[in-house]
Amino acid sequence: MKIIFCAPGKNPQPWLDALAAGLPDAEVRVWSDDDPENSGLRNADYAVVWAPPPKLFAMQRQLKAVFNIGAGADAVMKLENLPPDLPIVRLNDAGMAVQMAEYVCHALMRHTREFAVYAEQAAGKCWQTRPAIDRAAWPVGVMGLGSIGGRVAQAVASFEYPTFGWARTTKALPGITTFAGERELDAFLHAVRVLVCLLPLTSDTVGILNLRTLSSLKPGGYLINVARGAHLVEADLLAVLDAGALAGATLDVVVTEPLPVNHAFWQHPKITLTPHISAITLLRESAYQVVQKIQALERGETIDGVVGRQRGY
Ligand code: NAP
Ligand code: GLV
Repeated sequence: MKIIFCAPGKNPQPWLDALAAGLPDAEVRVWSDDDPENSGLRNADYAVVWAPPPKLFAMQRQLKAVFNIGAGADAVMKLENLPPDLPIVRLNDAGMAVQMAEYVCHALMRHTREFAVYAEQAAGKCWQTRPAIDRAAWPVGVMGLGSIGGRVAQAVASFEYPTFGWARTTKALPGITTFAGERELDAFLHAVRVLVCLLPLTSDTVGILNLRTLSSLKPGGYLINVARGAHLVEADLLAVLDAGALAGATLDVVVTEPLPVNHAFWQHPKITLTPHISAITLLRESAYQVVQKIQALERGETIDGVVGRQRGY
């Protein structure tokens, strides 16, 4: 079996080692479009990728499946020359859900418990108590209740914040009030004050965080976007923040990454930024998942995590 690894910008060696250790009979090599003839294998069976160049699919025509080493496969799905029947498999949790639960709960509590205010006070040697919060005044809504969003919603609910969730299809999650589909989006938005985006980026969800949706939150609203930068219309966020319709935002993802040095987000007093680290792909867990799925495919079994071409995630 031949496997190619193609993830520009990532150090390939640990991945090659982990895949080779899990699949000792496989030949595993890096594929690069700088030197496609010599740097990789011809006619590979599987590709393990992150944001691959389009040339990959033009040159590798015998792939049985492509494994995306991230939860969101949008960078692969947008490639124009993607063969229509080629299965694209995304990571399913693989240690990311717990990281995301940590990140979102941290961002939520940093805001609701006013930790940034306490940090400022401490810098000025000021020992002063702020009022306790009323959790009922902080309903949290999670957009996307999949492998990661479901776990995040449960973590938020465990801290007794009123928790709401929105997905494409109807969900039943203990302790979480759920809404489904376009038709229930407004009711969901009106119910929440802190909005967390954990949707995949698709033609239906691009720009979903916009003037209208952000203005629909309860007064004193707050945004936590940990999905993809293109979910957010960045100018609309600046407009609602500057108008006071939203109290602030934590953004782990932005339209252009790295965020350009002259971007307004860097200086904005109501925006907290991190560089796309809310849930990092973990090598051991991810390589294990890919190996298990390749073995299952080789046995002729079906696997989960295959992106639906119609729905885009
Ligand atoms: P997932 O398991 O595929 O879950 C996606 C969820 O979104 C599902 O609940 C789905 O609804 C819902 N959804 C999709 N399209 C929708 C629509 N048009 N309207 C309403 N709901 C919709 O994905 P995941 O593994 O949880 O990951 C979610 C996203 O998180 C990824 O795609 C990625 O963009 C982002 N992410 C970011 C980081 C980071 O470090 N910042 C790390 C990992 C992931 P159904 O349940 O009804 O299908
Ligand atoms: C990271 O952003 C991922 O989709 O895994």
